Amino acid sequence: MNTWMTNAVFGLIFVLTATGLFFFVVTRGALLVRGLSGAGGESSHVYPIYSNMRLIKLVDFQPIISAILLFQYPRLVSKIVEGLRATDLTNKKVLVTSCAFGNVIPRVVEAALESGAQRILIADIIQNELVHAESKLGHCSGKVQYIEDNATSMKQQEGLVDANVMFFLLHELPHHLKARALSEAGRMLAPGGKLYLAEFHRPELWVLRALSWTYFKVFEPLGLALWDTHDPLNCLNEMGGWTVERTTYFFGNFQVITATKH
Ligand SMILES: C[S@@+](CC[C@H](N)C(=O)[O-])C[C@H]1O[C@@H](n2cnc3c(N)ncnc32)[C@H](O)[C@@H]1O
Repeated sequence: MNTWMTNAVFGLIFVLTATGLFFFVVTRGALLVRGLSGAGGESSHVYPIYSNMRLIKLVDFQPIISAILLFQYPRLVSKIVEGLRATDLTNKKVLVTSCAFGNVIPRVVEAALESGAQRILIADIIQNELVHAESKLGHCSGKVQYIEDNATSMKQQEGLVDANVMFFLLHELPHHLKARALSEAGRMLAPGGKLYLAEFHRPELWVLRALSWTYFKVFEPLGLALWDTHDPLNCLNEMGGWTVERTTYFFGNFQVITATKH
């Protein structure tokens, strides 16, 4: 191998390792330290990349966010947007349960407004996330309301909305809160309303499963339960009162569940 090639390989290994270390420190690493210091509270499971404004702004860059979701991000968002576009939301309200990086929030808000929604509520447990979401939605201001609230014990009135979007929240919640978040998502919906839930899913290909398992073990150990014990489709079916359909993406690595409340 010539010197140029050797330098390129070492350069790439360095960049990948540094990126992995950075993400570990601002996600699971920080939670481990927080756990050791005994810090508690209802937002103690939230990573610093979602609470520190500098980190939020540093990380929220569409190519990085798409890469984390193996470039399936636009497809997952499109599935939700198609569902919203196909629904008459005239004079109805739509809830986005927790913010997320990338363009999911602007795309969802635009689709909901195009379908006639009267108001979009964006709820998050972290105020900085709401401020950041607002910075992406200048063109829709007036129709969007930002609410500091906990997805696992919402303060909003029951049956308030006709669509509820939950984008990659469940895998970050402690297990005992996953079912509560689903139950609250249902409580917020009016009968006939739809929950759109995007999440990780157990991959079909063993290579992908092995890589994905390693990713979860290192970075997001709370996510692995979505493959079996806390499969959201099973949880919703066990709760009852839903008609549920699931679409999987990229060899089964991701899923979008559309659940209609009876
Ligand atoms: C949806 S998740 C992860 C999104 C995904 N990794 C992405 O950005 O593409 C991150 C968001 O959930 C919020 N969050 C975490 N726990 C929450 C809870 N119990 N209630 C409401 N929001 C919560 C965090 O503050 C953060 O804004």
